[in-house]
Amino acid sequence: MPATSPAHSQNTAAETTNLITVSRTSPREATSLCEELECGNILYFSEPPFLIPAEDREALLGQKQSSAAFHKNVAYRPAEDRVTGLDESDAAGAERLHAILRGYSQSAMKFLGELLTPYAGKWKLDYASFRPIEERGRVARLHARNDLPHVDAFPTRPTNGDRILRLFTNINPTQSRVWMTAPPFAAIAPYFAKSVGLPAAQWQGALSASLRKLARAVNWPGARRSPYDQFMHACHNAMKEDTAFQQSAAMQRWEFPPNATWMVLTDCVSHAVLEGQYALEQTFIISRAAMVRPELAPVAILERLAGHPLTGA
Ligand code: SIN
Ligand code: FE
Repeated sequence: MPATSPAHSQNTAAETTNLITVSRTSPREATSLCEELECGNILYFSEPPFLIPAEDREALLGQKQSSAAFHKNVAYRPAEDRVTGLDESDAAGAERLHAILRGYSQSAMKFLGELLTPYAGKWKLDYASFRPIEERGRVARLHARNDLPHVDAFPTRPTNGDRILRLFTNINPTQSRVWMTAPPFAAIAPYFAKSVGLPAAQWQGALSASLRKLARAVNWPGARRSPYDQFMHACHNAMKEDTAFQQSAAMQRWEFPPNATWMVLTDCVSHAVLEGQYALEQTFIISRAAMVRPELAPVAILERLAGHPLTGA
């Protein structure tokens, strides 16, 4: 058992995640939707709130990845308009998939800008993905496993305190996508701050100014990675390694049926996917400055615990 069970840590942070259903018949203020996300809740739509053409869905469901490509999700990088993780032997199929992912990415961005106006334009459009692999029983190395609860942190795309917002659509016509969530980051942060260790105040001084300049010049990702990013990545790994946490934390199970679309700040919602095949996803990196409850951001929580800044200005 962990020394301090995260489910019983001494703070008053929310211990659970709520599902907030959003529909045309029950519109909500944009600010209150952002607040729900920032509190660690899931915004849920029973139907995709933007068009995903039927022929696109059919093409995606018919995708046959070669065995070499099969273990990977397909990623779309909007900034470069490029797709990775594809079966290269099927040029026509690859082109079609590229066009579908570009369309999903653009529709998702337009939709988000209209729904979450406090965030509009204050984001970086990150990767989109197509997830054609059955998640139940999927084999992956420990830190790549998505069936163990974790908060997201991208080692090669540090956020420097900005937020990771993901929008998912289950395009499987018959099968739900099943998630599990553990208590949100605010509730588990004290426990993982202890087990991972918070970066010291002088962390950035460890690398001399000239070395940092050189590291940036050669585009070494570590040069852009703040103490916050280091911690979040270590925390992501620690959560997947910590069987005592997995056994003792209060888990919630969620079923996202065919057509469901949902949005989550995955840097604060501890999530895992247990079952499901065929999902589309778009990631946004939202500026920390756009938060309506900035004190709830993981970086703010960690800076309070550490007592000093964790990002380089
Ligand atoms: C994850 O972000 O850990 C996976 C979520 C999913 O594919 O449903
Ligand atoms: Fe994740």
